[in-house]
Amino acid sequence: MKLFDVYPLQPLAIVRGQGAYVWDAQDRRYLDMYGGHAVISIGHSHPHWVARIEDQLKKLAFYSNSVHMPIQEQLAEKLGLVSGKPDYQLFLCNSGAEANENALKLASFHTGKKTILAMRNGFHGRTSLAVAATDNPSIVAPVNQTENVVFLPFNDEQALETAFSQHEVAAVIIEGIQGVGGIREASVSFLQKIRALCDANNAVYIADSVQCGYGRSGQFFAHDYAGVQADIYTTAKGMGNGFPVAGVVIAPHLKPKYGMLGTTFGGNPLACAAALAVLEVIEQEGLMENARIQGAYLMDALRGLPALENVRGRGLMIGFDLPEAQADLRKKLLMEQGVFTGEAKPRVVRLLPSLALTRVEADLFLEKMHAALLTDVPILH
Ligand SMILES: Cc1ncc(COP(=O)(O)O)c(C=O)c1O
Repeated sequence: MKLFDVYPLQPLAIVRGQGAYVWDAQDRRYLDMYGGHAVISIGHSHPHWVARIEDQLKKLAFYSNSVHMPIQEQLAEKLGLVSGKPDYQLFLCNSGAEANENALKLASFHTGKKTILAMRNGFHGRTSLAVAATDNPSIVAPVNQTENVVFLPFNDEQALETAFSQHEVAAVIIEGIQGVGGIREASVSFLQKIRALCDANNAVYIADSVQCGYGRSGQFFAHDYAGVQADIYTTAKGMGNGFPVAGVVIAPHLKPKYGMLGTTFGGNPLACAAALAVLEVIEQEGLMENARIQGAYLMDALRGLPALENVRGRGLMIGFDLPEAQADLRKKLLMEQGVFTGEAKPRVVRLLPSLALTRVEADLFLEKMHAALLTDVPILH
């Protein structure tokens, strides 16, 4: 059997990782400034994370959600504390798309309404409703097309007000910082307006924190820089540091009902052990503060490189635009300098390293950036 060929692949195989580095099959080392799309939050194979999963594996790998699961309760308690939302409720699932799918369903159950307001250039995943709320027609299959989603220009308060006046809105879904859309931050006043209009119209404010959340921005949820609370936060990516786990973090006024949401694998003991390890490390190693410090340092230094345009972001979620002359920069960084970065179109570079990135690693990245920007060596690969 062959793999279903849906991913354009880099010409290398990564076989191991440690901290901020990964190694290929030829034992060449790469500095990982991308974390496999923002997934590696505490560093590759962090020893505490490995020990927590190993320990759980020896005790119990799986049982279904039909019994009490103390480790789920521990995770909910810890997540409430570290995220600053102790009175919220947690529904556990397996991926970012699934978290958003459940959040959107929950909003519709709660309000009895159907219309979802989503943002242009956003990304919410590939399940049926999450993909319908994603503004990229090329990934929406005919069966996913629905009139229940209305797209608005990002940060356009007037368009938001008009949409509320024209539709029975069940939910607004928005990333605090658009990731796939090119590291674009929602403005404070836009998020505040979403809060106010949701309150006035019995609609649910869903903060998609799958990429920008979990401490990446220097605060647990990037949306919270606006000083207002969302009704639902969705999390995934950094939550398990590579172990698949996702969560729907739900405000107390949204009431559960038996059968409303469900999953076989969501909240399994191994996923909970991985997620607990991540929160423990974020707390013990002060990683949110580190993200703020290293992020500010990197952005400052990158702004000093004249070849780059519009350096932007928060914490360790950083983007910049490349002029035409530097269109090959990511390829050079990877193949010549041994650095992984991410991209968003058109010609946006995304940096999403582990929140444990050190100053030494940040400086190494900057050195390699200088080298890649200066060299004009033809790329052989
Ligand atoms: C903001 C956002 N939401 C949702 C998703 C979907 O997550 P997953 O790929 O885990 O389904 C992504 C993935 O890139 C994302 O960036």
